[in-house]
Amino acid sequence: MRHSTHILLALFFALILATQARHHPHHHTKHKHSSSHSTDDNNNSSNNQSYSPSPSPAPAPGYDDNEEAPSPSPSSSPSSNGDDNGTEIFDVRTFGAIGDGVSDDTKALKMAWDIACQSDSAVNVVLLPRGFSFMVQSTIFTGPCQGALVLKVDGTLMAPNGPESWPNNTSRRQWLVFYRINNMSLQGSGAIDGRGQNWWDLPCKPHKGPNGTTLPGPCDSPVALRFFMSSNLSVQGLRIKNSPQFHFRFDGCKSVHVDSIFITSPALSPNTDGIHIENTNDVRIYNSVISNGDDCVSIGTGCYDVDIKNITCGPSHGISIGSLGNHNSRACVSNITVRDSTIKASDNGVRIKTWQGGSGSVSRVTFTNIHMDTVRNPIIIDQFYCLSKECTNQTSAVLVSDIAYSNIKGTYDIRHPPMRFACSDSVPCTNLTLSDIELLPAQGDIVNDPFCWNAYGNLVTLTIPPVSCLIEGLPQSLPGNDLDRC
Ligand SMILES: *[C@@H]1O[C@H](CO)[C@@H](O)[C@H](O)[C@H]1NC(C)=O
Ligand SMILES: *[C@@H]1O[C@H](CO)[C@@H](O)[C@H](O)[C@H]1NC(C)=O
Ligand SMILES: *[C@@H]1O[C@H](CO)[C@@H](O)[C@H](O)[C@H]1NC(C)=O
Ligand SMILES: *[C@@H]1O[C@H](CO)[C@@H](O)[C@H](O)[C@H]1NC(C)=O
Ligand SMILES: *[C@@H]1O[C@H](CO)[C@@H](O)[C@H](O)[C@H]1NC(C)=O
Ligand SMILES: *[C@@H]1O[C@H](CO)[C@@H](O)[C@H](O)[C@H]1NC(C)=O
Ligand SMILES: *[C@@H]1O[C@H](CO)[C@@H](O)[C@H](O)[C@H]1NC(C)=O
Ligand SMILES: *[C@@H]1O[C@H](CO)[C@@H](O)[C@H](O)[C@H]1NC(C)=O
Ligand SMILES: *[C@@H]1O[C@H](CO)[C@@H](O)[C@H](O)[C@H]1NC(C)=O
Ligand SMILES: *[C@@H]1O[C@H](CO)[C@@H](O)[C@H](O)[C@H]1NC(C)=O
Ligand SMILES: *[C@@H]1O[C@H](CO)[C@@H](O)[C@H](O)[C@H]1NC(C)=O
Ligand SMILES: *[C@@H]1O[C@H](CO)[C@@H](O)[C@H](O)[C@H]1NC(C)=O
Repeated sequence: MRHSTHILLALFFALILATQARHHPHHHTKHKHSSSHSTDDNNNSSNNQSYSPSPSPAPAPGYDDNEEAPSPSPSSSPSSNGDDNGTEIFDVRTFGAIGDGVSDDTKALKMAWDIACQSDSAVNVVLLPRGFSFMVQSTIFTGPCQGALVLKVDGTLMAPNGPESWPNNTSRRQWLVFYRINNMSLQGSGAIDGRGQNWWDLPCKPHKGPNGTTLPGPCDSPVALRFFMSSNLSVQGLRIKNSPQFHFRFDGCKSVHVDSIFITSPALSPNTDGIHIENTNDVRIYNSVISNGDDCVSIGTGCYDVDIKNITCGPSHGISIGSLGNHNSRACVSNITVRDSTIKASDNGVRIKTWQGGSGSVSRVTFTNIHMDTVRNPIIIDQFYCLSKECTNQTSAVLVSDIAYSNIKGTYDIRHPPMRFACSDSVPCTNLTLSDIELLPAQGDIVNDPFCWNAYGNLVTLTIPPVSCLIEGLPQSLPGNDLDRC
C-alpha cells in the first residue's frame, strides 16, 4: 500500500519535474510532496511554488522560532528527513494561498490540511508563513490524521471581517473547528485575529422584549477556535485577539496543553471568554496572559483534572467554574487547581457559579497562590446565578464541596465584598477551607465584610478581613440520597 502510493507519487513527480524543467531548467529539487493540486487553478505564481521543497530544514514541533525576516520564497534545502517518517512541511502558499489579507485562502488552507492529514510522515506541519496574512472563512478541519499534525501560524490568520462578510452558507457559530483529531499542535510566532468588532456591536446579551419578557438576543457570534472531540492537543506561543465570541473552546477533548499564549480583546467586548473548556479532562493551561471582556478561563460541565498555572488575567471576569446546572441540568466538575496566577482589574477573581435547579457537584477545587489587583469579587461562590433576574429558587442545586482557598492576597474594589459564599438554601456548600487570605481595599480604608449564606467550612488561619460567617463542621441534614452525586 505504502509502496504503491510511493511509486505513483514518484511517477507523478517525475512527470511534473519533466514539465517543470522546461520552464525552469535550473530549478531541480527533489521533493516528494503530492503537490499536484493548484497546477490547474493557477499555472503561474503557484506553479512557481508547487515544486519548491519544504522551507528550511524541517523543525521539530515546538522548536524555537528564529527572528529572521520571512524570505518570500522558500529556501531550496530539502526536508532534513530523507525518510517518510520525519517531518513534512506543507506551506499553504504551495496550495495557492495568497496571504494578502484580502484574498480568500480557505480552500488553500483546507487542501493543505487534508493532504497533511493524509500524509504518513510522523509529523506534518501546515505552515502559514511569516509576513503574510491569510483570510480564511469558517472551516472544519477534520481528523483523524495519519500522523501528528502541526498547524504553524507564523504569519497572521484572520477571520472574515464581521457578520456582513461572513458567508451565509458557513456556520456563524464557529470560525475554525478542529474535529476528531488526535495529536495536534497549534503553534507559531504569528497571530490569529478574529476581527470581532462588528460582531460585538450586535445585541448579544439578553435584552428586553415585549411585555416585560427577556429575549436571548439574536447574536450567534462565532467562537474563534473550537476543538471538538479531540485529544492530545497542544496550543503554544500564539497571540489570539478580538474573537467575535469565545477565543478558545475545548469541548469533548482529552489531554489539552495550552502554554504561553496571549489573548487580547477589549474589556467591553461581550462573551469573549479567553479559554472555555467543557466535557474535557486532563487539561493544563500554563504561562499565559489573557485580557478580554468575559471570563479569562471558564470551566464548564464535565471537566476534571484541570491544572491552571501562571496565568495573568485582566481586565476580565476572572477564572470561573460554571455556570453550571442551567435548565435543571446535571453538572460534574472535579479536581481543578488554579495556582501561581494574577488577576487584575477584573469583575471577579476566582468564581464558582451555579444555577438554581441544577444537580451534580463541583468538588475538589484548589485556588492557591493567587494575587488579586483591584478585583471586584476576588473570591465568590454564587449558587443563585441568573442572567435575567427572573430565576426562582428551587430545591435542587449543584453541590459545591471541598473547595480550598489558600494564599490569596491583594486588593479588591470596595463596591463588593472581598469574599462571597452564597450557597443554596437546600444544598449548602460544604468543606470550604480558607488559609492565608489577605484582601485589602484597593482604595480607602473601608473594609467590607465577607458574605456567607449557608456555607460550611473552616479557617485554617486567620484571614484579612476576618471571616466569621462560615458555619463550622458539616450540615446536620446533609442532602442525602436524593443528591445526585457525580
Ligand atoms: C496557463 O498558462 C498558459 C500559458 O501562459 C495559458 O495559456 C493558460 O490559460 C494558463 N492557464 C491558467 C489556468 O491560468
Ligand atoms: C505570471 O507571473 C508573471 C510574473 O509574476 C506575471 O508577470 C504574469 O502576469 C503572470 N501571468 C499570469 C497569466 O498570471
Ligand atoms: C515565484 O515566487 C516568488 C515568491 O513567492 C515570487 O517573488 C516570484 O514572483 C514568483 N515568480 C513567478 C513567476 O510567479
Ligand atoms: C517509520 O515507519 C515505519 C512504518 O511506517 C516504522 O516501521 C518505523 O518504525 C518508523 N520509523 C521511525 C523512526 O519512526
Ligand atoms: C448574506 O445574506 C444577507 C441577506 O440574505 C445579505 O445581505 C448578505 O450580503 C449575505 N452575505 C454574504 C457574505 O453574502
Ligand atoms: C459557500 O458558497 C460558496 C459560493 O457558492 C462556495 O464556493 C463555498 O464552497 C460554499 N461553502 C460551503 C461551506 O458550503
Ligand atoms: C403583550 O400584552 C398584550 C396585552 O396583555 C397582548 O395583547 C399582546 O399580545 C402581548 N404581546 C406579546 C408579544 O406577547
Ligand atoms: C504526537 O506525535 C508526535 C510525533 O509522532 C510524538 O512525538 C508525540 O509524543 C505525540 N504526542 C502525543 C501527546 O501523543
Ligand atoms: C509565567 O508566564 C509568563 C508569561 O508567559 C512568562 O513570561 C513567565 O516566564 C512565566 N513564569 C514562570 C515561572 O514560568
Ligand atoms: C488531579 O488532576 C491532576 C492534573 O491536574 C492529576 O495529576 C491528578 O492525578 C488528579 N488527581 C486525582 C485524584 O485524580
Ligand atoms: C432565593 O434564596 C435566597 C436565599 O434564601 C434569597 O436571598 C433570595 O432572595 C431568593 N430569591 C428568590 C428569587 O426568591
Ligand atoms: C475537605 O476538602 C479538602 C480539599 O480541599 C480535602 O483534602 C479534605 O479531605 C476534605 N474534608 C472532608 C471531610 O471531606
